[in-house]
Amino acid sequence: MLIEALKRLEYRGYDSAGVAVLDPDKAEPIKTVRQVGKIRNLESALEEVELQGRTGIGHTRWATHGRPSRENAHPHRDPSGQLVVVHNGIIENYLELRHRLGDASAESFASETDSEVIAHLIAHHFKGDLVAAVREAVKDLEGAYAIAVVHREAPDLVVGARRDSPLVVGLGKQSNYLASDVPALLPWTRDIVYLEDGDVVAIRPDGIEVSDVAGNALSRPVTEISWSAEQAEKGGYEHYMLKEIHEQPVTVSDALLGRLTDDDSRVVLDGLGIDDEALRGITQVQLVACGTSWHAAHVAKFYIEEFARIPVSVDYASEFIYRTPVLDSASLCVAISQSGETADTRAALRCARDAFGAHTLAICNVAGSSMAREAGGVILTHAGPEIGVASTKAFTGQLVSLVLLALRLGQVRSVISDEAVREVSLGLRRLPHEVENVLRTSDSVKRVAQRYYEARDFLYIGRGVNYPIALEGALKLKEISYIHAEGYPAGEMKHGPIALIDDGMPILAVATEGRTYATIAGNVEEARARGGKIIALVSPGDERVATAADHAIVVPRVHEALSPIINTIPLQLLAYFTAVLRNTDVDQPRNLAKTVTVQ
Ligand code: M6R
Repeated sequence: MLIEALKRLEYRGYDSAGVAVLDPDKAEPIKTVRQVGKIRNLESALEEVELQGRTGIGHTRWATHGRPSRENAHPHRDPSGQLVVVHNGIIENYLELRHRLGDASAESFASETDSEVIAHLIAHHFKGDLVAAVREAVKDLEGAYAIAVVHREAPDLVVGARRDSPLVVGLGKQSNYLASDVPALLPWTRDIVYLEDGDVVAIRPDGIEVSDVAGNALSRPVTEISWSAEQAEKGGYEHYMLKEIHEQPVTVSDALLGRLTDDDSRVVLDGLGIDDEALRGITQVQLVACGTSWHAAHVAKFYIEEFARIPVSVDYASEFIYRTPVLDSASLCVAISQSGETADTRAALRCARDAFGAHTLAICNVAGSSMAREAGGVILTHAGPEIGVASTKAFTGQLVSLVLLALRLGQVRSVISDEAVREVSLGLRRLPHEVENVLRTSDSVKRVAQRYYEARDFLYIGRGVNYPIALEGALKLKEISYIHAEGYPAGEMKHGPIALIDDGMPILAVATEGRTYATIAGNVEEARARGGKIIALVSPGDERVATAADHAIVVPRVHEALSPIINTIPLQLLAYFTAVLRNTDVDQPRNLAKTVTVQ
């Protein structure tokens, strides 16, 4: 069960993995097996060992402190081996704690990790009651943690605790579970309890008890998960990423579900957590996000400025908290995150709320995630579980949700006509069908990949609302194929990057119809004149760019505001096919993790 659950969490990190199982009848009740690399290595190691018991913990690691090695793999034990711990997050004061415990000498620590100190600390506080010892220990921890602990004197007990790292409880029949994400538990249960920051939980076969660090009992609601384990599996595709790319027609319809009135004149967004009067009083919007979600934020800037006429700033969440932003209680901070757990984005959201009193809204894909619970309001993207590390369908879901948000803001502030809303709404309704059509470009995209998969560098250019799509295309390619790729606003080419173009360099231009078409067509011609090989996304009937390009990929014509949603798909496919041809690990590219819960 541990291995099966870990496989469903492997997307979170895969530097090493380990399990510990407790069998009270054995002379050495806790047995631990750890391996470097992916879970399949751990599985092979387990074939050589007999592990039995009813209580156990496991972990798959994304290294923060200490290289990926067997010693640094979790579970970690205390010096006497009475207990074992797994930990997600970072303990910021681990060196200080090592000193405080008085066993700072290198010999008493078996690893280079910050996590091991948690095991030492709990053992230090243990006086026969593991839950009490965990409560005492977490009081001393600074930083982020989600932990699970097993002690040899408590055979039917796993104790968990969380702060700033996700942890969920699964309720079964005569067995209960703890995990850092729901998919791990779906083979056994759909009844989930989301723990809150500061919670300590005791998991026993016949029940669970949640308390705070002071020992006060807490009650947490049970949520029934509607998606199945199968939804989180590959469904016949070679990779999760390909499956998720092909799921996008459904992603678009699900993100729209119940959000447009029948006559298409109004947008309905429940859960914004901010009333119409306050929405009317918003003077600026601050968007914070990381990676692909940050690209969605840049598209959203276009949407909100265009449809709601509110000034928008976009920041990398990891930079936002280190500058001195000018926000106040009339500001709306929108955090965009697939996982809802990204540490930097969470920190930025809290900063906007606590330091400036701004209204907060999370756009995320995971109901019950930390951001969904911490923000004043939430728009769920409803894209279903996304397993491939490279974000695809979640991005599409974000873009649809962000158009709806912008239209809603525009309507409540009376700066957009019902007619204009209707025009976009009709475009949105047709979008699932157009996404199906753009997926039909797959073969021509594959041919482009076959031609350029050995390239050393790639440039992606776009303008206006499609400039962020150039950035996103470049990110997709670099993260899964490891080809160096850069995205640029096409107009910036002649201010420097054009010097990079030499004979045969592939340049992908997002050159579909719209207000920037004529200028980007000019940029394509300039790049071509310098020897670049042009791969262009063009609209049906295009002549100018299609003629200048070496490869033209014709994508469906849609409302200009929706063109990023269509245009991103061939770029996802190009990255995917290139990575497959280069034989890289598409779903779990090197050095990355799906959910980044460290700052
Ligand atoms: O879960 P989030 O959307 O907050 O994650 C943000 C980034 O880590 C994520 O988008 C990352 O850039 C992806 N690997 C991109 O494909």
